[in-house]
Parts: sequence; structure tokens; C-alpha cells
Amino acid sequence: MEVVICPNSERAEALVAEILFKRIQAKPDIVLGLATGRTMEKLYAKLVEYQLNYSEVSTFNLDEYIGLERIDPHSYWHYMHQHLFNHINIEIENIHMLDGSAKDLKQAARDFEWEIKAAGGIDIQLLGIGRSGHIGFNEPLSSFASRTREKTLTKTTLEQNASMFGGNLHAVPKRALTMGVGTILEARELILLVTGHEKAEILANAVEGPMSSVVSASAVQLHPNCKIIVDRDAAKQLENVEYYQSMFENDPDWEEYRAFGCA
Ligand code: GLP
Repeated sequence: MEVVICPNSERAEALVAEILFKRIQAKPDIVLGLATGRTMEKLYAKLVEYQLNYSEVSTFNLDEYIGLERIDPHSYWHYMHQHLFNHINIEIENIHMLDGSAKDLKQAARDFEWEIKAAGGIDIQLLGIGRSGHIGFNEPLSSFASRTREKTLTKTTLEQNASMFGGNLHAVPKRALTMGVGTILEARELILLVTGHEKAEILANAVEGPMSSVVSASAVQLHPNCKIIVDRDAAKQLENVEYYQSMFENDPDWEEYRAFGCA
């Protein structure tokens, strides 16, 4: 696991975008794991700006609210089309998203796992973190071995995401379908993007705290190829900053990214 601290959120987003560009250029039929949330919006804007060739790219999204039709403006299906898919040349059949309005949710979850396998697994999975410590919608006590399934959302998450429902807490669906922690850990590479001071405490718990299902994001400590890219505000409660800076300055793998002014 490597932590890179960027001077601000714009640089953090630009660095993640650059890593993704390089991965897509190196493997045009790459399988991308995508995330939603406010953190990802500017990142997707950058991906749109660069207009790479997505004609062979496949995507799998982490999660979706249960009970929302895909066309609902609050669904993640809608979010992804609004922020990314409508603006790039991706083939519709290569977009894989969980359907929260499916009649049989268990079957939808099983099908999704099968689709990931059929695509050859996820090459690079993008992650954000919720204030409850979730990755995807893996709320506290999600098993590190969990697979795609239904989860009930915590009050913390409902409150956090209410702003995307016009500030109405009661409008936020109480349940979601999400890739499991175990599913996420099988991706060949993870990138966790975290920005803003309100994530500082949960980020420190996830990265430097004990691994525990109470903080699902701490499971990334198990992953052999995980990059955590954050801005200074999100990094405020990290203890080993000096070491992370030294790693970025000295590790040859980061050399081509030093111009981003992160450390
Ligand atoms: C939602 C998503 C998560 C995402 C989180 C962070 O809850 N299910 O995958 O990481 O939001 O949201 P934000 O970026 O808005 O803080």
C-alpha cells in the first residue's frame, strides 16, 4: 500500500486521471472498476476532457441503490451516464452496473459476480471512502470475504448522501446492492481517492488503524497493489506523512508522476 499526498484536490484528481490514462493506453481492452460520489465528479470530468479511446474498455460499477429505476436521476446508473458514459465512446454492452430495481436482487448480485469473472476480472478498481468507512456500500461489519450482495445503509451514510437527494434524508434509499469487500480485493490494482478534511479521521483509521470489518476500507491493507491518493486536507490525521513523502520522492515507479507536485 502506498499513500501519496497531493497539495490540493485538483492535483489528486489529476494524478488519478493520469494513472488511468496510462493504464488505458497500455491496455486498450482494460476492465475498469468505477465508483460514484462527489469525489469522483471532477475526476470523470478530466477523463472526458482527454477523450481517450474507450471502444474496447469494459467497466463495472461498485454499487447501486435498491428501489430506484435506472432512469431515476438519483440512481448511480444516471450519475455514471451524466458524468462519464454519455461523453466517451464506450460500447453500451461493455458497461456493467448493478440494477437496484431488479425483481430478484440475489440473482442480480450473482450475475454481476459472474460477469466480472467472464470479463477476466477487474484490472484497476477506483474507490472512494464514505464517512462510515465504507468502500462501495460495504457498511461496518461487512466481511472481508463478502461478495456482491444487498446491504442496509448506516445513518451516517444516509446523512452523507442526503445532499444528493435535495437534502432530504428520508428520500435516500435505505438499502443498496454492492460489490463485496472480497470482490473488490480481487481487482488487480486498487486506487483509493480521498479528498477533503471531513474524511481525515476515517482515512487515518482505514490506512493506519487496525484492520477491522468495523472500517471496511481498512481491508485495502490486505491488497498487494493499492495506491491511496489524497489531498492535504484528507491527510491531516495521518501519522507517517514523512515516510509517505519519502516513498513518493524515492520510489522509481513514481518518477514519471513527480511533476504533479505530490509527495
Ligand atoms: C457513496 C458510494 C461510495 C463512495 C462514497 C463517497 O456512498 N457508495 O462508493 O465512495 O459515496 O462519497 P463522496 O465522494 O460523495 O464523499
